[in-house]
Amino acid sequence: MSDPNLLTGMEKAEDAGVYKLSDTLALVQTVDFFTPIVDDPFTFGQIAAVNSLSDVYAMGGKPLTAMNIVCFPSKIMDMSILRDILLGGLDKMREAKVTLVGGHSIDDKELKYGLSVTGLIHPDRVIYNTGAKAGDRLVLTKPLGTGIISTAIKAEMADEAVVVEAIRSMSCLNDRAAEVMMDFHVHACTDITGFGLLGHGCEMVQDTDVGMVLDHQAIPVFHGVKDLIDMGMVPGGTYRNRDYRIAMIEQAKGVPDYFMHILFDPQTSGGLLIAVQGDEAEKLLEKVHKAGVTEAAIVGEIVAEPAGKIVVR
Ligand code: CO
Ligand code: CO
Repeated sequence: MSDPNLLTGMEKAEDAGVYKLSDTLALVQTVDFFTPIVDDPFTFGQIAAVNSLSDVYAMGGKPLTAMNIVCFPSKIMDMSILRDILLGGLDKMREAKVTLVGGHSIDDKELKYGLSVTGLIHPDRVIYNTGAKAGDRLVLTKPLGTGIISTAIKAEMADEAVVVEAIRSMSCLNDRAAEVMMDFHVHACTDITGFGLLGHGCEMVQDTDVGMVLDHQAIPVFHGVKDLIDMGMVPGGTYRNRDYRIAMIEQAKGVPDYFMHILFDPQTSGGLLIAVQGDEAEKLLEKVHKAGVTEAAIVGEIVAEPAGKIVVR
């Protein structure tokens, strides 16, 4: 049984569910939680909250309320750790002007934290992850490599400067880039998270009549990531992402193999991938930069041929 007010739900790989309340108002709903990827509890709380809010921004919505989801090993961990995680989350909810309305916690062997988020959107202004048109150009708003860097943090192999840079990016809300994007003819958008740039890129072109071309030299990457790959700091998710999507990817000659690891690297709290009408891309990029999202870059374009594929050149 389908509900006509459900504009997008579980059947598509959308960032969030959208439910129409009236001709001018729809709910955007999403939930995300995960295990710590950094050592500091407050920072982890911030990153988890930013990551959870991101799916609402990716659809062009405004997050309104959130609920905490907590799994906490209270027998082996001090409650002050949980307090700091929640304070970190609250800090980002305040920044996003989101009201915490409740939550639920359970005792668990492994610590996990995240949010369920409800936002609002005009039902005619939802930006889906499909709908990109040939001639669109692609803007990516954050550098890649957080999965590789998190793996290095766990192995205690990460350079302090590299970690600081990745944390700054992961704890940065996608709100400003999303706000800018709403002033342009954006045909599709998604945020880059667990499936990596290529995995989420595939969702944009799969079963459509367009394809994607990515210019590998234009793609922003955190400093030090290549060195970490050379040291073997590639998370298992990178290989799973590659195995799942490799049939849709064409790697041009001259694109080094290590770079494919970066493109498949599962991201935490990654940036937005925005398909904007080609002649507006430079202007959008300029505005995004002005809004403080300084590492955003034009990384490729949407093409008619080959449809349903991504060419990395
Ligand atoms: Co998403
Ligand atoms: Co999500």
